[in-house]
Amino acid sequence: MKHEKILVLDFGGQYNQLIARRVRELNVYCEVHPYTMSLEKIKEFDPKGIIFTGGPNSCYLPNSPVIDKEIFELDIPILGICYGSQLMAHLLGGKVLKADVSEYGKTEINIVGDSKLFDDCHRQTTVWMSHTDYIKEQPKNFVVTAYSDDCPIAAMEDEKHKLYAVQFHPEVMHTVEGKMMLKNFVYLICGCRGDWQMANFVKQSIKDLKEKIGDGKVLCALSGGVDSSVAAVLLSNAIGKQLTCVFVDHGLLRKNEAKEVEEVFGPKGSYKLNFIKVDASERFYQKLKGVTEPERKRKIIGEEFIRVFEDEAKNIGHVDYLVQGTIYPDVIESGLRKSAVIKSHHNVGGLPSVVDFKEIIEPLRLLFKDEVRKVGLELGIPSNLVYRQPFPGPGLGIRIIGEVTKEKIKIVQEADYIYREELTKAGIDKELGQYFAALTNMQSVGVMGDERTYEYAIALRAVNTSDFMTADWARIPYDVMDIISRRIVNEVKGVNRVLYDFTSKPPATIEFE
Ligand code: XMP
Repeated sequence: MKHEKILVLDFGGQYNQLIARRVRELNVYCEVHPYTMSLEKIKEFDPKGIIFTGGPNSCYLPNSPVIDKEIFELDIPILGICYGSQLMAHLLGGKVLKADVSEYGKTEINIVGDSKLFDDCHRQTTVWMSHTDYIKEQPKNFVVTAYSDDCPIAAMEDEKHKLYAVQFHPEVMHTVEGKMMLKNFVYLICGCRGDWQMANFVKQSIKDLKEKIGDGKVLCALSGGVDSSVAAVLLSNAIGKQLTCVFVDHGLLRKNEAKEVEEVFGPKGSYKLNFIKVDASERFYQKLKGVTEPERKRKIIGEEFIRVFEDEAKNIGHVDYLVQGTIYPDVIESGLRKSAVIKSHHNVGGLPSVVDFKEIIEPLRLLFKDEVRKVGLELGIPSNLVYRQPFPGPGLGIRIIGEVTKEKIKIVQEADYIYREELTKAGIDKELGQYFAALTNMQSVGVMGDERTYEYAIALRAVNTSDFMTADWARIPYDVMDIISRRIVNEVKGVNRVLYDFTSKPPATIEFE
């Protein structure tokens, strides 16, 4: 089935994924590609509309990201956002300059004329601005459709050529009518009808997977997390017993986790899966001995995973495909752009390039997390599993700062268990996006009874987030924290101090490594 598609061309701004998610929420399929995508490829992609994202550069300086002007002649509607709007102005003969005052934060704009982009929006509306350059003069054929006190051209358009530009960010929540503006662009201007529905996705994926795999044998890496569980059940619906799920206990799981996964997916669970549990902890511990550098740890764990699967595949006999639960943010974060790789994600960057399988299948590769959850519900997976909080592939390996040892794993497992248990008891676990305990590499002095102690500090982390790209630290009530802290210090051997991480993302990341 051919979907209507919107293409997001990425100029390096921080909200790029958010734009794509917003468009998908409007039931229109959307992909993010780097601005360097060739015109040929763009034509091949055949989008109903294109969105240029924001970005940190000044379009009038040499070496700034730029695009072939011919793109404006493809007769495809284009919406430029922030940098994207300035670039459109600059390339088409308008004037972009550095502003005397940067505009940052919530701003009122006044809409003039009757732009389709602002259909059903108020004449004065709050938007989110974040820019230092501004469009001083619009190109010929363009009319100004909105202005603010500090920004004479907050929006402009050339309706005839379906070119639209906004200086502000319609994709962020603070732009009160941003969703409406994007809807107007996608539906009124690009003429989409909204054919991206998860029920269709499920049907189509099952059909495609059946066709692709034929009577081949498939091995699925099942971790019990949302993504791999949804991938496994999707595959199982497509090819039944041709699928074998391998659950690797790398010894870096949370307390009781291995048992819980086995209960759901194992022989006694409700799915009729071929399920194999491999206890590979010793292999991982050996490989991780003496390793302290976070990226090396990630790479080692990722690589060892594949080796374990290869060994399993050999035991099973011939295997054609390996399934992984990679999702779209992993794909984007692992180096769509030339910007720095923050972390090599297990499932993508952490994989070795030589793999003993014909091909890796990633059926969720194009989905955002909320879409994966919808697919899970469509497939009848219980909601407690579908809404499970994320647990990273490298597991506790990246929640223990410095060298991973059995002793440290035990400490962090016990502390994390208490933390989770108390948050559930307090009834606030479901309000939180993600929460966990990590083991700092710091030992410090304490006193227990009359004895001096010199033990580890546990760091607790809890964040609220809607997309895991940005996150705010969670305000957990002090009395709950008090219980947790006391219990951890009293019950977990080797800990004499509990710290709470008050850092948002950015500048921190959610995980510690
Ligand atoms: P960071 O630490 O990058 O985490 O802010 C963002 C989200 O991603 C999860 N995470 C991972 N998930 N494999 C995964 O499947 C990984 O290697 C990985 N690293 C981080 C993290 O738990 C958070 O939800």
